[in-house]
Amino acid sequence: MRDATGRLTVLISGRGSNLRAFLQAQQSGELDGEINAVISNRPQAPGLEIAREAGIATEVLDHTLFETREAFDEQLAQIVHNYSPDVVVLAGFMRILTPAFVAAFRGRLINIHPSLLPKYRGLNTHQRAIDAGEREAGATVHFVTADLDCGPGILQARVPVVAGDSAESLAARVLPVEHQLYPRAANLVLTGRAVLGHDSARLDDRVLPPGGEQWQPA
Ligand code: GRF
Repeated sequence: MRDATGRLTVLISGRGSNLRAFLQAQQSGELDGEINAVISNRPQAPGLEIAREAGIATEVLDHTLFETREAFDEQLAQIVHNYSPDVVVLAGFMRILTPAFVAAFRGRLINIHPSLLPKYRGLNTHQRAIDAGEREAGATVHFVTADLDCGPGILQARVPVVAGDSAESLAARVLPVEHQLYPRAANLVLTGRAVLGHDSARLDDRVLPPGGEQWQPA
């Protein structure tokens, strides 16, 4: 069991399978930190139940009750600040964040995207990769910057696209890899090994390519 070295606050909107992966990593001593809160913008997000069962503090901030994106993000930033996180983990958080929010947590705000960034930012990534005839897909954990899915990559894993793949079958192949990749990438940030520079990420003082360090699951 490793000693926890940092605090993670996790933001979700939905089912929370990546959150579950973090909780499992924490329970098995593989996470270099402790999850101190889970915040959802959707009151019915199934991931909230996962957090409650694990005894983690939960907060709901319903975005539909806010007039503007700015007002929601201001309140969200206040709640996140209350938990003093070392790393803020976006785990299926389906909101575009304002530049002010991103700036407030610069260098400690990370996201996972189910594509080989910088390819296929945004939605419908799996279908777009299949339609383009890609032979490889995957997932990327990246620092969040003001542009959607554009921040410098930290860690990236590849999976094959196979003949006859649908978006669903490809997503089902990528998701378990996400679950292994994301806590590992968070550890790199928690331990200070991965840092966000001006327009790239560095790992152990090495400038990383846009997609981040390549990592293959066992
Ligand atoms: C994952 O595929 C992640 O890559 C994307 O949103 C999905 C979240 O799934 N950003 P879950 O809520 O963690 O199960």
